[in-house]
Amino acid sequence: MFRRFLNKFSKKIGIDLGTTYTTITLQDKGIIIREPTIVAINNRLDQIIAVGSEALKMVGKNPKYITLAYPLDKGVISDFEVTEKMLKYFFDKIFHENFNFTARPSVIISIPLDVTEVEKKAVEDAALGAGAGKVYLVEEIMSAAIGARLPVASASGSMLINLGGGKTEIAVISLHGVVISKTLEIAGDELNKNIIQYARDHFNLLIGEKIAENIKIKAGSAFQMTESVSVEMRGRDLVSGLPREIIVTDQQIRDALASSVNTIIDAIKSVLEVTPPELVADIYERGLVLCGAGAQLYGIDQAIAKFAEIPVRIADDPTTCTIRGVSILLDDDKLLNEILLPSANEEKMVR
Ligand SMILES: Nc1ncnc2c1ncn2[C@@H]1O[C@H](COP(=O)(O)OP(=O)(O)O)[C@@H](O)[C@H]1O
Ligand SMILES: [Mg+2]
Repeated sequence: MFRRFLNKFSKKIGIDLGTTYTTITLQDKGIIIREPTIVAINNRLDQIIAVGSEALKMVGKNPKYITLAYPLDKGVISDFEVTEKMLKYFFDKIFHENFNFTARPSVIISIPLDVTEVEKKAVEDAALGAGAGKVYLVEEIMSAAIGARLPVASASGSMLINLGGGKTEIAVISLHGVVISKTLEIAGDELNKNIIQYARDHFNLLIGEKIAENIKIKAGSAFQMTESVSVEMRGRDLVSGLPREIIVTDQQIRDALASSVNTIIDAIKSVLEVTPPELVADIYERGLVLCGAGAQLYGIDQAIAKFAEIPVRIADDPTTCTIRGVSILLDDDKLLNEILLPSANEEKMVR
């Protein structure tokens, strides 16, 4: 009896705190929450009125008294208070739906590469403030590699590119660690901006972010499509001020995205150039792996393969690689210990 009680206490939660999506996994249950990282706040009452997809529905349509907060910017917390409230909202939901779950669970959270101690501490404190008992931080790229079933423990090199919303992370991994990496702020959100800019420059059309994202998903590509696609682009004519709709082709959207795609490819090449030759040989043999929801951009694998001259494959279900890796870590303390980042809250030894 007592033992079972203890087991309940030891249940853990895993969180992929993404700029675009927050995904949460529960030990023994798998992914239970995947919601846009957006919070709608009633300024009059200073209260949260919606989180995730409910808040997303309000984007571009909100009256002044409702603020739509994006608490993460480029993978790091930009609004501490809102992040804490959002996590608390999710934790409360989990406790409500899982009666055998205890308060103050242990939580594993993935964070981007190259974050500062202050940024790390913000993640830990937000989770603790929201109700976590203990917080374990891991690098997102490592958990994504584990989720993609790359041989992270072996002495052979793997190269993984995580194409997220706010950041693109490129890393070479070997022996449970990142050997070399590069982070770009050119990722999914920037591609949406490229489409908005293209519409403005070429058609004098002002389009919203959600419309740009839909166009990217429907007609965006990084490589010639086998069948051409056309989509409508609806916005406001910047000259007449009136609504206008035009039809754009995949070629036009490809042109709009080309410069960002090239920047990503150049960054991959630059990482390969400084990767030790033994690891490069492993990477060529295994191929470079793409993960993150942005890996679904049509032809991104072909474009990288052609211009970086390296075999490329997209991980299975690239969107959930990170959280699947975190799920594995919930059940594997040994692996967690191998890749765990030092806590920003632990007192530093003064020598
Ligand atoms: N089918 C698709 N084609 C291209 N981009 C996509 C597609 N689906 C999602 N995305 C983009 O992926 C990005 C989010 O990736 P994700 O890995 O969830 O990000 P994060 O971890 O930063 O929250 C967004 O910019 C989104 O527009
Ligand atoms: Mg991510």
